[in-house]
Amino acid sequence: MFAPDHPLITTLYIVASALFIVGLKMLNRAATARRGNLISGVGMLTAIVATCLLAGMKFHWILLGAVVGSAIGAVAASAVKMTAMPEMVGLFNGFGGLASMLVAWAEFHKWRAEGWAAYHQLLGPGAPDSPRFTAAAIAFTALVGAVTFSGSVVAFLKLAEWITGRPILFRGQRLVNGLIVLTVLAAAGLVTVRPEAPWAYGAFAVVMVVGLLLGVTSVIPIGGADMPVVISLLNSYSGVAAAAAGFIILNNGLIVAGSLVGASGLILTNIMCKAMNRSLGNVLFSGFGATESSGEAAAAQGEVKPISVEDAYYILEAARSVVFVPGYGMAVAQAQHVVRELGQLLEKNGAEVKYCIHPVAGRMPGHMNVLLAEANVPYEQLVEPGDVNPTIENVDVAIVIGANDVVNPAAREDPKSPLWGMPIINVDQARTCIVLKRSMRPGFAGVENPLFFKPNTRMLFGDAKASVSALVAEFKAE
Ligand code: TAP
Repeated sequence: MFAPDHPLITTLYIVASALFIVGLKMLNRAATARRGNLISGVGMLTAIVATCLLAGMKFHWILLGAVVGSAIGAVAASAVKMTAMPEMVGLFNGFGGLASMLVAWAEFHKWRAEGWAAYHQLLGPGAPDSPRFTAAAIAFTALVGAVTFSGSVVAFLKLAEWITGRPILFRGQRLVNGLIVLTVLAAAGLVTVRPEAPWAYGAFAVVMVVGLLLGVTSVIPIGGADMPVVISLLNSYSGVAAAAAGFIILNNGLIVAGSLVGASGLILTNIMCKAMNRSLGNVLFSGFGATESSGEAAAAQGEVKPISVEDAYYILEAARSVVFVPGYGMAVAQAQHVVRELGQLLEKNGAEVKYCIHPVAGRMPGHMNVLLAEANVPYEQLVEPGDVNPTIENVDVAIVIGANDVVNPAAREDPKSPLWGMPIINVDQARTCIVLKRSMRPGFAGVENPLFFKPNTRMLFGDAKASVSALVAEFKAE
């Protein structure tokens, strides 16, 4: 068994941390992302080896956990359908929070069973002399871990549509939430100030149970298009909880890995807020969709003009510039490969082709990038709304493949719409817009889309893969 300050252990944790950072950096680009993931995995393995060496004879428990966890992760990741990936990622965030909460619980239990002097000894060299520091880290880890776990479970249920994706609001909700926050903070404060009091275990139980309740009550009022912010925020919380757990057990590897997840989750949250043009406070406390559910949003009006595959082909055949706008429906239909094929045929036909990706399209950050990269769409052809919108009037055809909320002009035109203010891709301003979807049903936010009624919009109804395949067949037949 090695001491925590043994040079070998320190070196292994530094190597692991460096591999995490390099891996994270490589996730920045589609071309290096796979390797980055692998490098981070090697970093995790290095950290596990270091922890086994620390644990000495008890290392078999760690190995058992690593093997069982890896097996569950491998089976889940290979069995899950691509469309269910966001739910799985959301749930895995939650498990990170649960693990941190359990570490806090186990450590508090050990402390109470052994007494501070013996527990302090167990923590090893460099352990803080102040029991309050450790008690604060335990209470904080349990609280953030609990909120992350139950919040992620609710986000999972919403994404999987097992419960309504709409905001769940009730009278006096803010008061109830306020009381819950006060209770949990008071309990965490008591654990910190008097960790060895006879009632401190009870206070700690309140931190965990009411923390779990807080996760639920914080996420249920958020719905519709605001879920991306919640998911990235919960991702950040899972990192914060892990870093805090690292402070309890004085593990540098855990502190670094947790901080990286916490910081990158926060950056992602900021990107998502910008993509929706909302502040974090507004997302968390305003109850998205309240206007819409009270029926105030104006109903879209006009005539829907369906189009046949043949007529869509004639329009595309004459087009010199085409922008594809993929959305969640492309993931459902798994249409990315045929979309790429159609793009190539259009290019052969002399059109300039781009793929415009909205940051919140799909159900997880980077969802559309992953699908298009899988179909080998050249990276240079992927553009952002800011690149396309200023000149969209010159685009001959915008083809919307199963996107809805991210192209909803109500965000621009209707101050009463719950989507009001969210930057969208202005496909309604292209010369012609062809929308591929199966029905007139709304998107994730549950909001009607006036795009479908615009004079220059044509609706190509049907499964996106079937429709695009039919267009490809038309091009090939000519
Ligand atoms: P959505 O607004 O959800 O619309 C997807 C559309 O795809 C639906 O209207 C659906 O219409 C259509 N569709 C489904 N299956 C299809 C198929 N097989 N073939 C053709 N069309 C199909 O998608 P979006 O525009 O990508 O917007 C994403 C939404 O999800 C936003 O509100 C966003 O805030 C939210 N969200 C995003 C994330 C992240 S991080 N990206 C996370 C959580 C929530 P039909 O049923 O009529 O076919």
